[in-house]
Amino acid sequence: MSRKFFVGGNWKMNGDKKSLGELIQTLNGGKVDPNVEVVCGAPSIYLDFARSHLDAKFGVAAQNCYKVPKGAFTGEISPAMIKDCGVNWVILGHSERRHVFGESDELIGQKTAHALESGLGVIACIGEKLDEREGGTTEKVVFAQTKVIADNVKDWSKVVLAYEPVWAIGTGKTASPQQAQEVHEKLRGWLKSNVSEAVANSVRIIYGGSVTGATCKELGSEKDVDGFLVGGASLKPEFIEIINAKA
Ligand code: G3H
Repeated sequence: MSRKFFVGGNWKMNGDKKSLGELIQTLNGGKVDPNVEVVCGAPSIYLDFARSHLDAKFGVAAQNCYKVPKGAFTGEISPAMIKDCGVNWVILGHSERRHVFGESDELIGQKTAHALESGLGVIACIGEKLDEREGGTTEKVVFAQTKVIADNVKDWSKVVLAYEPVWAIGTGKTASPQQAQEVHEKLRGWLKSNVSEAVANSVRIIYGGSVTGATCKELGSEKDVDGFLVGGASLKPEFIEIINAKA
């Protein structure tokens, strides 16, 4: 089964209207492979801005959301609000949410369920820390994180699974294509055993962690690497090169 290549850009807490506006102009004017689904993750305050300026061929994602539609949750945003801005995706379970803001697997699962029920697509992030990789528990960690997500998903067509080893995020230390492929293949195997063969074959499993124009082609040529979630390089014109990794 062919899976459409998916490239997400995660702008994190970076940029302002001027610099993001310039980036958007570059993306809009760039030659991008039409066979790739591209989604840009904007800071919540710039979701409207990003959606109204980015060309319609680019999707937009929020970088987080809460688990209920509305209420007394100061500082949070809901999937309903995200949709109200014309935005159709949300990144959930990013390692910075897990490890800087202490989000639990349980909360990430609840957010996933609510975002999907609300009609958003979810880029669900998982990944092991350095000590976990060195301790040989990568598989155990990513399977446990995936299980919590899977327990909260009914429609897998709206989910992209992002494998992002924490030790590779923002460190310049990209996982080797073999390291990425090994985990992606195991994740697909887990989905086959625990969800279904059809889901295992159709879900996009993307890699994140210091992806650059220089590393994207080799990573993207691995059989189970269906795209990328890009942080730092998504703020640069280089992002176009990454989108076109398979072209
Ligand atoms: O969401 C994106 C990841 O955290 C990767 O960030 O490309 O800056 O390492 P990075």
